[in-house]
Amino acid sequence: MNDDIDVLLTETRSFPPPAEFARTALLNDPNIYLEAANDTEAFWMEQARTLEWIRPFTKGLEWDAPHVKWFSDGTLNASANCLDRHVRGAKRNAAAIIWEGEPGDRRTITYWELYRQVNQFANVLKGLGVERGDRVAIYLPLIPECAIAMLACARIGAAHSVVFGGFSPESLRDRINDSECKVLVTADGGYRRGQVVPLKRNADKALEETPSIRHVVVVQRRQGSTIQEAHTEMKEGRDHWYHRLMHNASAQCEPEAMNAEDVLYILYTSGTTGKPKGIVHTTGGYMTGVAYTTKYVFDLKDDDVFWCTADVGWVTGHSYLVYGPLANGATCLMYEGAPDWPEKDRFWDLCERHGVTILYTAPTAIRAFMKWGDQHPAKHDLSRLRLLGSVGEPINPEAWMWYQQHIGGNRCPIVDTWWQTETGAIVISPLPGITPTKPGSATMPLPGFSAALLDIRAKEIDVGGGLLALTKPWPSMLRTIWGDDARYVETYFTKWPGRPDLYFPGDGAKRDDDGFYWILGRVDDVLNVAGHRIGTMEVESALVEHPAVAEAAVVGKAHDIKGQAIAAFVTLREGFTQSSSLRDELREFVAQKIGAIAKPDDILFSADLPKTRSGKIMRRLLRDIAEGRALGDTTTLADPNVVAGLKDQYEAQES
Ligand code: WTA
Repeated sequence: MNDDIDVLLTETRSFPPPAEFARTALLNDPNIYLEAANDTEAFWMEQARTLEWIRPFTKGLEWDAPHVKWFSDGTLNASANCLDRHVRGAKRNAAAIIWEGEPGDRRTITYWELYRQVNQFANVLKGLGVERGDRVAIYLPLIPECAIAMLACARIGAAHSVVFGGFSPESLRDRINDSECKVLVTADGGYRRGQVVPLKRNADKALEETPSIRHVVVVQRRQGSTIQEAHTEMKEGRDHWYHRLMHNASAQCEPEAMNAEDVLYILYTSGTTGKPKGIVHTTGGYMTGVAYTTKYVFDLKDDDVFWCTADVGWVTGHSYLVYGPLANGATCLMYEGAPDWPEKDRFWDLCERHGVTILYTAPTAIRAFMKWGDQHPAKHDLSRLRLLGSVGEPINPEAWMWYQQHIGGNRCPIVDTWWQTETGAIVISPLPGITPTKPGSATMPLPGFSAALLDIRAKEIDVGGGLLALTKPWPSMLRTIWGDDARYVETYFTKWPGRPDLYFPGDGAKRDDDGFYWILGRVDDVLNVAGHRIGTMEVESALVEHPAVAEAAVVGKAHDIKGQAIAAFVTLREGFTQSSSLRDELREFVAQKIGAIAKPDDILFSADLPKTRSGKIMRRLLRDIAEGRALGDTTTLADPNVVAGLKDQYEAQES
């Protein structure tokens, strides 16, 4: 079997860090890459020492591949690192969280206030019988209580398991049961596109089959509003209102001294198939990874307002909305709702009003903004922005250029950050004051991380397409899958037999002449046309380059002669209409851009694409449609109607 991937797209644009940005950046000496490579373990120990340890570590890395420990004789507390050390110093009265609800309500919480509330909630949890080593499930809208509950768990040494508020009762139930959570923290409701999401009602359904749960804490999302106490059924003895428990709780709770290798949290990823995996992160290594990457990838300074738009239900929310920024004493914006509510300029309105300086969002959002049109950001003063970030999927070069121009005013560097739930922290990304950027490339591994492009025999590919591998252990890597260590070994460390030291993230990539990495998409999604293995990203990027196209997804469908033919699903920008001549034009356009081999056989225009709730395109379901199969598991979709509609549309076109 051959796992190389053809390289079709050539992107030659390159942008050095803007001079003024580089001059004032926290890091602007490229020697840091060399220093870290020379003695990676020493480099990470130095980063770990920027945290506050209760008992300092003497050990660095212990690597018994594929099992790892970092700093294992040290003790620390994650919540103390995010709070206590700041309230002793100049950050005491600084804003930790600036929160805005979807309806427009606002709260600003200083480090001191956050510290007190976390202490109180830690005592609440203790009062409900939560002990060190227990698990607590968190199922909340994006409100400050997410961070409070997470940090309170960390304070008393309980592992949290955050379940995205958009997940169904069944998903919540399965996650609670897999890690046997003792307490659930939820809310009466949250807001999404003007609708109330009835979280407690969903939770009640899940709770019918969760024998491990002893108590449920319910946050009142909005006092005196439509979703209030009267509308929420509270089960006597089991369910408690958050505000009542907090009222009586002491604001002093000594942080537990946790071993560096004690579990900080579990976070479930569904991936493309199978039962969700409970990714386990531990305390010392994870905190080291997120504190370091937040500071240097985002060039974080005291006067920044950092907005990571991810929900706390995803790893991006854990690492760059809560732990990373708070460990650095940053001021974060947190926004509950949808980007197009009440209008399509909500994000730009938020950026302007809160003076956001660093924006970290996802390609799916950027492509939606492109689709909606330039006029929405143009209405707002975005001149405070100084750095932009992207995460979650490959960013198509055209979307990257749009982001740079229409949001960044051609002034802000863009950090395209590649990482995973499993890596805990950003792995491949530019350092904005040092690394030149190329649209569509996540550039190079950050200092401290080591990657390679390999073929199926683990031979390095210097220039070309192949399998991405991480070749050295790093502190914030997952330690195991909760309750299933065999699956941990099997999923991540058996791609190259006899090489349990090589971590396989499941992504294909290419390396260019400068050694820059370009993520080509999931290896499971790679197309195989007439013996050519083609990454989805390049064909999709060619389509997105056409002025009419906002977003595209391509999949392989069985073909008698070629093995696979390409089927493309295309969303148009506002102001363009579908037609058979546009379809022909797009097919030719792709052929011209990247070669006839990549010319789609079918193009289906679609108002929307099936996406996971975190915004990733689900190509697996598009393959089912293109090959006329019954749809596979659709439970992780954001909106199952999209895919059902597409299936009908596709079948109508075929007949
Ligand atoms: C994809 C999100 C290209 C990739 C932090 C990875 C990316 C998966 C990028 C992990 C990027 C994430 N460029 N692809 N900058 N960032 N991915 O676990 O396929 O939700 O393996 O973590 O998203 O997704 P996860």
